[in-house]
Amino acid sequence: MVPHLRTLAALLDRRGRRALSLIAVLTVGAAGLEMLTVALVYPLLQLIGSKSVGDGRALIAASGGFLALVVVKSVYNFGLLRFQEGWYQRVSADISRRLLHRYMAAPWLRHLERNTAALIGIADGAATWPLVTTLRSHIVLVTEGLVLVGVLGVMLWAAPLPMLVATSTVGGVFWPVSRYSSRRLHALGEQGTAVVADRVQAIRHALDGLREIRILGRPAWFEARYAEARTRDGAVQQQLNMLFALPRLVLEPLIVMAWVAVIVGLVTLRPDQLGDAVAVLGLFAIGGLRLIPSLTRTLGAVASIKAYRPAIEAISADLAAYPAATESPQRPLADLAEAIRIEGVGVDFGGATQAALDGVSLTIRKGQSIGIVGASGAGKSTLLDVMLGLVPPARGRVTIDGVDIASDLAGWQRQIAYVPQHVTIIDATLRANIAFGLADADIDDEQLHHIVGLAQLEGVVAVHGLDGAVGEDGCRLSGGERQRVGLARALYTARPVLILDEATSALDSETERAIGATLQALRRKRTTITVAHRLATVRACDVIVFMSAGRIVDHGQFDDLVARDPIFERFVTSGWQ
Ligand SMILES: Nc1ncnc2c1ncn2[C@@H]1O[C@H](COP(=O)(O)OP(=O)(O)OP(=O)(O)O)[C@@H](O)[C@H]1O
Ligand SMILES: [Mg+2]
Repeated sequence: MVPHLRTLAALLDRRGRRALSLIAVLTVGAAGLEMLTVALVYPLLQLIGSKSVGDGRALIAASGGFLALVVVKSVYNFGLLRFQEGWYQRVSADISRRLLHRYMAAPWLRHLERNTAALIGIADGAATWPLVTTLRSHIVLVTEGLVLVGVLGVMLWAAPLPMLVATSTVGGVFWPVSRYSSRRLHALGEQGTAVVADRVQAIRHALDGLREIRILGRPAWFEARYAEARTRDGAVQQQLNMLFALPRLVLEPLIVMAWVAVIVGLVTLRPDQLGDAVAVLGLFAIGGLRLIPSLTRTLGAVASIKAYRPAIEAISADLAAYPAATESPQRPLADLAEAIRIEGVGVDFGGATQAALDGVSLTIRKGQSIGIVGASGAGKSTLLDVMLGLVPPARGRVTIDGVDIASDLAGWQRQIAYVPQHVTIIDATLRANIAFGLADADIDDEQLHHIVGLAQLEGVVAVHGLDGAVGEDGCRLSGGERQRVGLARALYTARPVLILDEATSALDSETERAIGATLQALRRKRTTITVAHRLATVRACDVIVFMSAGRIVDHGQFDDLVARDPIFERFVTSGWQ
């Protein structure tokens, strides 16, 4: 329990820990008010029953006072509830935000290693209900624990021997039950955390892939996968809820059993003192009644803490494994002044037999336009990922005017505008998709309209409007329109280096020609690196880089390459246009 408490405390900041202590103290205050109310009922009843009520003023005053106390108690409890529930939710939201922040700041390769559904399961699953319940349970443990100690202490003081008999009977039977339930709760908690990820993944696959699923007529497989995860989840929840209820179900008969044990003991050992024993039994009956709810709540809290422990540990492990983004680079990178140099770069992806990139060297001078071509799988996108600083090279390095980009990746990335092979479209307006991540107030409308023209998006704007929604994953856009939105996004924030990965592959030749003219004009002002399958897209580049099987086979001006490189020539003439 204590190491777990330390794990939990480490998730909170200092303010959070202080608030948790304050809530514990305030909850003890609430328990005090509760006890005071109960304690005052008896004298009030005595007053009503007494003959000296007189004109009844004293009774009215006492009832009024009692009412005031009950109202104060309710207001206090309401305020406390508001404070503590608000605080639990704030802590939970803050941890979810911190996890998302760290997942987004993580190195790209790590991002590729982990399943998105697993991350959602922790940041959006574990950090919500399990975390809030664990926090709440710790408070319950403190306050109900105090009540338990108080009531048990009074009983022990009043009747030490019967109490020892009773507690050892209850404890002796309850101990193995508790051990069993503890082990099961931990195992179920682990399964519960894993199954959330399976559930999220199954439903995402079913809905994300709906187009192909429908045409192939295979919804049954996806439904079955989701149903299986859901059933598994249901089974875990059912067993958890049963274990949560188990203490109450076991305790009630146990306490009565202890009562019977005390009666039997008294009758057989001290039949002469049975008269005194009635008082002890009365104490047991009343104490037992007060104990059962407190014990139930305490054991319920212990069970919740155990069941959600794996979830809390998963949060803690990810917070430790994913460091927060560091703002200060080792060595700030100046703006590109001379050249980007790729020096003997090699990349091996785990599991692949062949290196994705091997001994790649290339110099790109400021202002040059580079076209990268090669068969599918040749390593073009991987080379761009290395230049973008997303994939760190296993061998070699990429430098900007002699400085390794690894010394300030964020500084380098801020110099780049990039259109990926698969443009991400968010379910928002065209404006939000172009400005991508800028607040509305920061969007420059004049610049936006200028970019809409450059990216040949006027037709799309005429149909949807800049403030029209483009649908989930851009479902209201055509393939070429998506690409042009990606291009507009890259051009909106003027950056000196432009990297395009098949950015115009889905355009018709006329639109591509128009965009090509824009890009050609940009090439004169910026350093551009263009990956393309279509010859027309890159023909005019200063240098063509020809890649095959992770290597640069040759590079030079298009006409020189055709003239001197038979493989390139074959590549060009074999319909690569
Ligand atoms: N994350 C990854 N893990 C393992 N292998 C990868 C990964 N990304 C790419 N690869 C492999 O690396 C090789 C190069 O891929 P890359 O995406 O760079 O090809 P490409 O030249 O861009 O192809 P295309 O023209 O089809 O886009 C491929 O064999 C691919 O399967
Ligand atoms: Mg590619």
